[in-house]
Amino acid sequence: MSGRVKIGIIGGGLMGREVASALSRWFVLDQHPVQAELMAICDPVESRRDWFRRVPTVKLFAADHNELLASPEIDVVYVAVPHDLHETIYLDVLKSGKDLFAEKPFGIDLKAARNISETAASLGRFVRCSSEFPFLPGGQRAFKIAREGKLGRLLEVRAGFLHSSDLDPDKPVNWKRQAKTCGAIGVMGDLGLHVVHIPFRLGWMPKTVFAQLQKIYTQRPDGAGGLATCDTWDNATLHTGLEISGHEVPMRLEMKRLAPGETNTWFIEILGTDGGVKYSTKEPKTLWTFQRGREQSWLRTDLGFQGPFNTITGGIFEPGFPDCFLQMWASFLAERAGKLDGRFGCVTPEEAVRSHQLFGAALHSHAGKNLATIE
Ligand SMILES: NC(=O)c1ccc[n+]([C@@H]2O[C@H](COP(=O)([O-])OP(=O)(O)OC[C@H]3O[C@@H](n4cnc5c(N)ncnc54)[C@H](O)[C@@H]3O)[C@@H](O)[C@H]2O)c1
Repeated sequence: MSGRVKIGIIGGGLMGREVASALSRWFVLDQHPVQAELMAICDPVESRRDWFRRVPTVKLFAADHNELLASPEIDVVYVAVPHDLHETIYLDVLKSGKDLFAEKPFGIDLKAARNISETAASLGRFVRCSSEFPFLPGGQRAFKIAREGKLGRLLEVRAGFLHSSDLDPDKPVNWKRQAKTCGAIGVMGDLGLHVVHIPFRLGWMPKTVFAQLQKIYTQRPDGAGGLATCDTWDNATLHTGLEISGHEVPMRLEMKRLAPGETNTWFIEILGTDGGVKYSTKEPKTLWTFQRGREQSWLRTDLGFQGPFNTITGGIFEPGFPDCFLQMWASFLAERAGKLDGRFGCVTPEEAVRSHQLFGAALHSHAGKNLATIE
């Protein structure tokens, strides 16, 4: 390996720790062009910072992100904070001269996303946004099959990301349940970029959307004996329209916090007249492919451990969440070094902005109960 890259994390919660986990086993990557090293953490909560003391390479513990950004040692900053803080902190990272690995939804709304994207472009910074599931072998195979264009005339596309933990009405409120911190787009901002990553990368940008949005539990325990208001959308079903080779193709996108029985289920299904492909993390090593013949059948294939980047893990083993997260980071840093070499890349700022255009149009569609055009 060559090309050492020093990384700082702003926001040491759920995802900040996941990144520490991925970077701490960077050595499992086989011949990656970059050597990644986590060296700084920023979080205003002391106990959150202290967790990172178990990572031997971390030397800088900051309560204020400007202290971390002042360090000349750091090349790349990953930011995982509540959505209302994205714009300010992302812009501060860019202005400090560092590259940015952002979290979704890339700003609380379209205006913020555009500002971040335009600032990154004008300052010439390398910026990508996190979305890890397409890096699973099943996501990669579905993408490859669709890109090869051998499915015939496309009939329909379905993609989604489903959770169920919010079915529990006693689950306490957190910042993701309130519009002021999560954003007016609610669950679409939480889960949506994961859902559109592969379709957008295939060039499937919807032109229209009819949205069905649901707020299901509007109050939750506040953790102090009272109740707090939950005013974000819990479930979103978007019926979108694509134009592919002169034909209109329906694409249904589902993002749900209350989906009975689903724990972090990410899926994609692409159906055409000559073939089809289906993959879901519900059956993490199973790929379904369809071929039209005299008899019609779906073929079930057990996938092994084939990420875009080789690792020491044997091809017969099964991948999981930490693996696709590591693969995503490998892709981010390879692309930053100009060495992606045709592999699948992370969400671009343009794609993130486009997702906000779609989700903003979905709000209009739902409010007017009509089909909205995506500008
Ligand atoms: N890629 C994924 O699969 C995935 C999964 C969950 C969340 N996310 C995204 O990651 C981001 C963070 O979500 P999370 O679940 O980790 O949230 P979290 O609540 O677990 O962690 C957020 C952290 O940010 C810290 N923080 C608050 N203000 C800060 C500030 N000014 N400076 C530095 N740190 C500050 C908090 O103390 C907390 O530790 C969000 O954008 C979310 O949408 C991504």
